[in-house]
Amino acid sequence: MKYARNVVNEVLRLAPPVHGFFREAIQDITYAGFTIPKGWKVYWSVSSTHKDPKYFPSPEKFDPTRFEGNGPEPFTFIPFGGGPRMCPGNEYARQLLLVFMYHSVRKYRWEKLIPNEKINFDYGPAAPVNGLPIKLYPHSDIKQ
Ligand code: HEM
Repeated sequence: MKYARNVVNEVLRLAPPVHGFFREAIQDITYAGFTIPKGWKVYWSVSSTHKDPKYFPSPEKFDPTRFEGNGPEPFTFIPFGGGPRMCPGNEYARQLLLVFMYHSVRKYRWEKLIPNEKINFDYGPAAPVNGLPIKLYPHSDIKQ
């Protein structure tokens, strides 16, 4: 399921459920000419990293093939964070998404009941504001 895995990655790139997190400087550090004093909080942004055209050409384009081969540079695709505090549930979450996608896409065609439903991007996991109501049509019912 290589292509399906790339689709999952591309969805996580364009619509990361977690937008970023804070880190606290445990000592004074200098980065890119900026001094960050000890004790200050730094916010690392998943969304803006994922849309950096240097690493993701045409960043708004949905293109699962960007994950083919070696895929993106290390620490440019970070839906689960990175380093020692990286999400320990990341492989489990990926498998769950794959299994869900495999069954739901293979068995059903979906129709969104609210076509332009807004996504709430407040701090916390991104989520459709109305809970994404959908109608499912079994593929067996669809006249070819
Ligand atoms: C699509 C689903 C998920 C996404 C996008 C996600 C994303 C993240 C992110 C961005 C972090 C912060 C990483 C960092 O600070 O470097 C995190 C931390 C964490 N996640 Fe997830 N996660 C997901 C699912 C899960 C699941 C299924 C579990 C458990 C079964 C889980 C358990 C945790 C825990 C315990 C932490 C804290 C790790 C630490 O601070 O050392 N996550 N997650």
